[in-house]
Amino acid sequence: MSVIHEVLGSLRVVKAFGQEENESERFLKRSNKAVEGQMQMARLGATFQFMVSMVFTIGSVLIIYFGAQYVHAKEMTLGELTLVLAYIGQVFGPLQTISKNIAEIQSSLVSVDRVFSVLDEEKEVDDNPHAIHLDRAKGAFQFKDVSFCYDVERPILKEVSFEVRPGDRVGIMGSTGAGKSTLVSLLNRFYDPSTGVVMVDEVDIKKYKLKDYRSQFSIVLQEPVLFSTTISENIRYGKPGATEKEIIEAAKAANAHDFIIRSKDGYNTMVGERGLQLSGGERQRISIARAFIKNAPILILDEPTSSLDVKTEAQIMEAMERLMEGRTTFMITHRLDTLSSCNFILHLEEGKLVEVVRDHDINYIAHKKASFLNPAV
Ligand SMILES: Nc1ncnc2c1ncn2[C@@H]1O[C@H](COP(=O)(O)OP(=O)(O)O)[C@@H](O)[C@H]1O
Ligand SMILES: [Mg+2]
Repeated sequence: MSVIHEVLGSLRVVKAFGQEENESERFLKRSNKAVEGQMQMARLGATFQFMVSMVFTIGSVLIIYFGAQYVHAKEMTLGELTLVLAYIGQVFGPLQTISKNIAEIQSSLVSVDRVFSVLDEEKEVDDNPHAIHLDRAKGAFQFKDVSFCYDVERPILKEVSFEVRPGDRVGIMGSTGAGKSTLVSLLNRFYDPSTGVVMVDEVDIKKYKLKDYRSQFSIVLQEPVLFSTTISENIRYGKPGATEKEIIEAAKAANAHDFIIRSKDGYNTMVGERGLQLSGGERQRISIARAFIKNAPILILDEPTSSLDVKTEAQIMEAMERLMEGRTTFMITHRLDTLSSCNFILHLEEGKLVEVVRDHDINYIAHKKASFLNPAV
């Protein structure tokens, strides 16, 4: 079933790469494995049942044989022998049922095992029983010697320390795999640091109620996540219970209103599974509208424009500028030009902060660009 799900979900890639045959082979291989498993179970079950019947039959024959001799020698009455045979007959039914059910029990135990392995999975972060309420954060962040690893052997972040003031625009740059998205996951408290603390408004973020804390963030990702429903429901996701008017306002702020009213059913247009009936830029504008309607004090943008063309990027950056207004923003980006609107720049490489610049001057970006193209500069 997982093969089917995967293939149906990426039909375009499968077809484009001409992998239909391969995929159907992969499905056959997996199905054959399942059939083999079923066959083996049936064989074992049948063998077991056969053994039970054999034992029973041989047992009955022995009882009749020896019983007859006892009756003949007058050590036992015929009635007693008949009684024993009747009892044995009554045991046979339940024994057969047991042997049938054992196979079923075995296969259910496998499912139980899987369920428990999910239930036993440890939570990444735990809510503190004495957690404090957080209404609306001011947006001051402190990272103090934060280190983090997904598995014990390989540290991803190494003693990262920095301080962000409310309303700062923080640009995070660095090569692929440097740990930028991981850093942002710690901000969000998707994970807790292995050592060190993250503080918001001068309180360790572990002390806030998790739900309160997470509601302080709006996130716009490189690949916007849309659900298979209408455009207006997708925007409303940022604020359940939002009115029609609020949704339209958010869409206007996100430069999305125009393309939405041009679509077939306006705000009630279905976006298709994962929003695939919209272009990348349109999807991104819906996710920005969602961030507008949520109106959270802290904003995280993880390479929001890197999968878009330059013209679409310009339109989206304009909406994004409006969104960043008055919020503490963390923006991960590969495009150095987008960094020029940030007043605080963190440069991360291999999990270490290699440069922290506040209020850079005009030449900084140009210099940075040159040093990326030619590391000797
Ligand atoms: N869930 C995860 N489990 C294990 N390793 C991960 C996970 N997510 C990311 N990594 C690893 O952490 C490193 C940093 O990843 P990431 O923070 O996504 O980098 P960036 O966003 O800067 O490209 C990478 O080497 C990646 O392989
Ligand atoms: Mg990333």
